[in-house]
Order: sequence, then structure tokens, then C-alpha cells
Amino acid sequence: MRPKVFVSRIIPEAGLNLIREACDAEVWPEVMPPPYDLLLEKVKTIDGLLSTLNDRIDANLIASCGENLKVISQMSVGYDNIDVNAAQARNIPIGNTPGVLTDATADLAFALLLAASRRIVEGVEYIRNGKWRTWEPLALLGGDLSGATLGIIGLGRIGEAVARRAKGFDMRIVAYSPNKSKETVAKIGIELLSFDQLLQESDFVSIHVPLNAQTRNLINAQALQKMKPTAILINTARGPIVDQQALYEAVKSGIIGGAALDVTNPEPMSPDDPLLSLPNITIVPHIGSASLRTRNKMAVMAAENLIAGVAGKSLPNQVKV
Ligand code: NAP
Ligand code: GLV
Repeated sequence: MRPKVFVSRIIPEAGLNLIREACDAEVWPEVMPPPYDLLLEKVKTIDGLLSTLNDRIDANLIASCGENLKVISQMSVGYDNIDVNAAQARNIPIGNTPGVLTDATADLAFALLLAASRRIVEGVEYIRNGKWRTWEPLALLGGDLSGATLGIIGLGRIGEAVARRAKGFDMRIVAYSPNKSKETVAKIGIELLSFDQLLQESDFVSIHVPLNAQTRNLINAQALQKMKPTAILINTARGPIVDQQALYEAVKSGIIGGAALDVTNPEPMSPDDPLLSLPNITIVPHIGSASLRTRNKMAVMAAENLIAGVAGKSLPNQVKV
């Protein structure tokens, strides 16, 4: 009998075709993710689940998994929506999609950095609002990248890829990453600093850590107070790493210069959110990995993890607990 799987969203054909060749697949057809209660029912009878970062795979859901469920394959690198300890206790392996989205996400982080420093979105609004009357020596002045210090929090795959881009812009690159050694990062031209030093010295702070108990609210009011009044915060990791109320107050009162976010808390962000009222905050809707080639690769990787898992084989990319 072909394995029975549930795919919680319509994913690129490149992945779906692989899944359909190997499995009896039910694909959730809506734009919005399946309701939690529906997932609770589905996991009772399936052999494998392909999830996305919108699906809440908590201990309760894991406890509902039937005996047949052999794998949860997530189509993203981040897996903070999954209770991995509960899955491990049930011997259910979790797959994810590291690496293939590194460049796309680093590109987006850098796009946000440039957009915020050179006030691109404000410039677009300036024209739309009929304010562009002449070339103005004093209008829309931003910050320079060359010679500026970029502070990377979390020097993993994406953090390093952002650093490579920053080198091309002649930036000084510093990082805070607890398990890296000074010697190793010095070899790639990066200075390792303490968290506080990084906040104090950086003109741009870019976040690339996973969301977990240690990183939730890592950027809170105290951390923001340590940053330069001209500094720009970039977050392409996860929304809850930043205390958004504290960010709003810090940007509004000039404690920092601005922010650019791909991720928020909650997602989606309400169109009435106060952060959207500040001109020096740029926000895009979690599009870090949203390039055509990258999403195809993620879908294939997630499909390969799912297919291996339902066959009882080890996953090509398994989350290590
Ligand atoms: P990764 O290679 O595992 O890198 C994460 C790095 O974070 C690790 O190198 C680790 O540093 C560091 N880290 C962990 N805890 C830390 C802490 N408390 N303080 C400082 N550094 C800490 O992961 P990745 O592939 O670069 O992805 C990073 C995150 O980006 C994902 O977890 C996901 O949430 C997010 N992401 C978002 C998008 C998007 O669409 N916006 C796309 C992809 C990924 P050490 O090596 O020193 O332990
Ligand atoms: C996207 O946010 C991911 O974690 O892949």
C-alpha cells in the first residue's frame, strides 16, 4: 500500500510531483493554513506530514499522532513551530530545509539594510505624495555603507552569507555567536564581540538566530538602549526575537535610527499596527526565501525528507535535537 501523507499547503510542483509519485497525498487546497483541529484529526491516520512554519505542531498535536506517523517534514529551515522534544519522545523524526534558502534570505536581509539606510520606501512615498519638485541638496539623506559597522547576531549559514555581501560594500563586520571562536571567524574577516559590544559599536544590527527560549525577546528595551541613536535594526529571523513594543518606542523616541523587518509578532501583522505608522520602519511580509528557484529547492528537499521518512529511511536533512 502506498503511504498516506498530508501536505498542509500547496507547495511548488517540483516537490508535489515527487510526493505524488511515491505517496497517496492529500494536499490542503486553501491559501490559509489548515485549522489546528483539522490537523489534529489528520495526524491520527497518516504516515507522514509535510508542514510549514504556520502549522502549530505542539505537544498536544504530537500526542494525537497515530502509530503510523513516521515523519514530519517541514518546508523551512526554522522549526520553532514544532515541539521537537515531544516528537523525539515519540521517535518521530523532523525534517527541515537548511542551506537552499541561505542566499535568498541573505539577499533579502541586505535588500532591507540598503532600503532602510537609503530610505528607499520613503523616497517612493515622496513621489506618490507629490512632494518631488526638484533635486534637493538636503532631502532624504541616508547613511553610507562603506566604512560602517555591521553587527551580525548569530553567525550561522545566513549570518555568514550576509557578512559575505557586506564585504563587497566595504563594511566592517562584527558578530556575536556564542559557539564560534575568535580565531575561526577572524579567518573570514569577522571580529567576534560580546552581545553588548556589538550593540554599542554597530551601525546596522542584523539578526540571524533561531527562535528559542534563549533568543525570545533578545532585542528588548535594554538591548535597544545600548544601540547607537543612528543604528538600524534588521530582522529576517523570527518576530518574537524582538520586543516589538520596545522597538516602536525606541524608534519613535530616537533611541535608534530605524528598523527593517521581514518577520513580525504576530504574523500576519495587523495593518493598524503602530510600527507601520513610523516612516523609518520598513516591513515586508516574511519573504526571505521567496525566490522562485529557492522555493522549488525547498519543496524538493521537503518532499525528499517526507518520502524517506515514510519509507522508514533516515531523512536527508533531519533536525538534530
Ligand atoms: P543556522 O545556520 O543554524 O544559524 C543560526 C546561528 O545562530 C548559529 O550559528 C548559532 O551560533 C546562532 N545562535 C543560536 N543561538 C544563539 C544565541 N542565543 N545568541 C547568538 N547566536 C545564537 O541557521 P540559518 O540557516 O542561518 O537560519 C537562521 C534562522 O533564520 C532560522 O532559524 C529561521 O528562523 C530564520 N530564517 C528566516 C527566513 C525568512 O524567510 N525570513 C528564511 C530562512 C531562515 P553558534 O554557531 O555560535 O551556536
Ligand atoms: C523561513 O522563515 C524559514 O525558516 O525557512
